[in-house]
Amino acid sequence: MTGALHSDEVTAVPTLEDADAKRELYAALASELSALLMGERDFVANAANFSSLVYHRLPDVHWAGFYVRRGDELVLGPFQGRPACVRIPLGRGVCGTSAGERRTVVVQDVHEFPGHIACDPASRSEIVVPLVVDDHVVGVFDVDSPVLGRFDSEDEAGLEALVGVFLQRTSTGLS
Ligand code: SME
Repeated sequence: MTGALHSDEVTAVPTLEDADAKRELYAALASELSALLMGERDFVANAANFSSLVYHRLPDVHWAGFYVRRGDELVLGPFQGRPACVRIPLGRGVCGTSAGERRTVVVQDVHEFPGHIACDPASRSEIVVPLVVDDHVVGVFDVDSPVLGRFDSEDEAGLEALVGVFLQRTSTGLS
């Protein structure tokens, strides 16, 4: 049989409307973030408010926050959500992979990611964006969802843009 698509072969491809809606939401969040960080460059204050904005404004998100680079480790920073693992070696888990390879990592199903660190067993998908300053990774921004396949290329572009706004308006001086 050719041409037939079995139901278990159907993957969740975002519709154009979904993509447009996401682009609009991220554009609005970029403006809100700029306003929120106006007049303040302190890392802890800005990271706390950025985490809160993402946690409360992105649907289906149950953790949003920072890990900062301390030598060969990432250490938990400001976040919103349940308590999380404190130290992650570079190269380990989704966060350590993002920092070690200096790239955004999108994980559709955390159970399929080798070495995923399960801070909350309810997490099903995750996206981690590295914080790159002067060619150095100074930390990562991590967002977790209880929904499988929650993050797509629009989320990747949108969150990278938000991290760009954050870095432009914040003193890092972390490593
Ligand atoms: N899952 C992450 C650890 C951090 S928590 O999700 C907050 C990882 O594998 O690196």
